[in-house]
Amino acid sequence: MAKVKTTFFCQSCGAQYAKWQGQCNSCKAWNTIVEEVIQAPEKSDWKIPTKGGATKRTSKPLLINEIDASQEARLDTFDQEFNRVLGGGIVPGSLTLLGGEPGIGKSTLLLQVALKLPYKTLYVSGEESQKQIKMRAERINPNNSNCYILTETKTQNIFKQIEDLQPDIVIVDSIQTLHSDYIESSSGSISQIKECTTELIKYAKETSTPVVLIGHITKDGHIAGPKILEHMVDTVLQFEGDRNHVFRILRANKNRFGSTNELGIYEMQGSGLREVSNPSEILISKKDEELSGNAVAATLEGMRPLMIEVQALVSTAVYGTPQRSATGFNAKRLNMLLAVLEKRAGFRLGAKDVFLNITGGITVDDPAIDLAVVAAILSSNEDEALAKDYCFAAEVGLSGEIRPVQRVEQRILEAEKLGFSTIFVSKYNKISLKPKAIKIQLISKIEDLVDLIV
Ligand code: TYD
Ligand code: MG
Repeated sequence: MAKVKTTFFCQSCGAQYAKWQGQCNSCKAWNTIVEEVIQAPEKSDWKIPTKGGATKRTSKPLLINEIDASQEARLDTFDQEFNRVLGGGIVPGSLTLLGGEPGIGKSTLLLQVALKLPYKTLYVSGEESQKQIKMRAERINPNNSNCYILTETKTQNIFKQIEDLQPDIVIVDSIQTLHSDYIESSSGSISQIKECTTELIKYAKETSTPVVLIGHITKDGHIAGPKILEHMVDTVLQFEGDRNHVFRILRANKNRFGSTNELGIYEMQGSGLREVSNPSEILISKKDEELSGNAVAATLEGMRPLMIEVQALVSTAVYGTPQRSATGFNAKRLNMLLAVLEKRAGFRLGAKDVFLNITGGITVDDPAIDLAVVAAILSSNEDEALAKDYCFAAEVGLSGEIRPVQRVEQRILEAEKLGFSTIFVSKYNKISLKPKAIKIQLISKIEDLVDLIV
């Protein structure tokens, strides 16, 4: 194969170097210099496969009214949660990147989706052998005749197979294991990732075949490789959850074809991931005893209401500095709520340890959970259980005011559906709803909550 000319560029200022060095001379940034191809490979070597009969798209300006949007009909993935997060299915010719921690279930999720698809699917794995994949597939769904497994890491070879097979959708596990002949650096390096993604994008756009990539993430939670990778793809999905819990959450961090508010919830089982269509019922523990320190929040994840149980434990601090720890909730926000309680409601929490836990291993950033957090802390502090059919949906402000939250009516309806008797919301929420089975308790200050529940 012809030697390809490469050179080194600084990723932050664009300065060019003949060889690699640690620091960029012009912008002084460290570790920003990467190798890139500057000479296009000879055309005779290989080409991006074409799809049978497909005419190559030529770009010509079109009036927006003349553009036929119906071409973008989505492919149903037959996985309701996956469809929801993507905005209704996979768009032909799109590139989707799925990121997540090791062992969270990325390969399981995509293999499962691949096995459900009625289209000709190519699952390319650079991480596991065909046998390993077959073993995994047997646990999930043993009978599918449309799914092809290829274990290969060289993009040129993958494209050769694609040319023969002509799949309707391609899944790659993972982008960090691919390598292209046109770059000398090892797989997983920035320039390899960029080059392989570029080739896949070209293939996806020219043949209108959707491609789904798995991406590893770094220690601090970002997708490994250059940030530019996230700009290049159409959709970035994040698969997250606590490995010790069974729930996994799929969310879109970027989506060119839909909203990023939607959320997919799965439960990891022995036979793969199960779609959870009624999350609230699972997240609330159904117990007969009333225990202190528990409160239920009516939160909203995307467009979906989600009832979540908050647990707090307040105890006398043994050491000089009291401990504050929160799982699934922002620790800074917990400190703020404790300060508000101290100042506005006269609670002496300064000498107490406070532990907070959101059950189910879920992380919540809906501010409407504040009121439930405060109620759980009050309940644990007094060691008195809240009525177990109470739930809460409001934000707490710095001056102890109870602030309104968005879509409160949707939350009220969900709480009513699940059999709660009372929901505490802000007085400033505009509610025209008149539900029969649930009482709406309006409050305006944190003191009101103290009077009502303690
Ligand atoms: P995997 O998809 O390999 O994770 P990733 O590709 O994100 O690294 O998932 C690995 C975990 O999933 C593994 O620890 C076991 C668990 N698992 C199940 O609990 N049930 C199953 O049916 C499968 C296939 C995996
Ligand atoms: Mg994997």
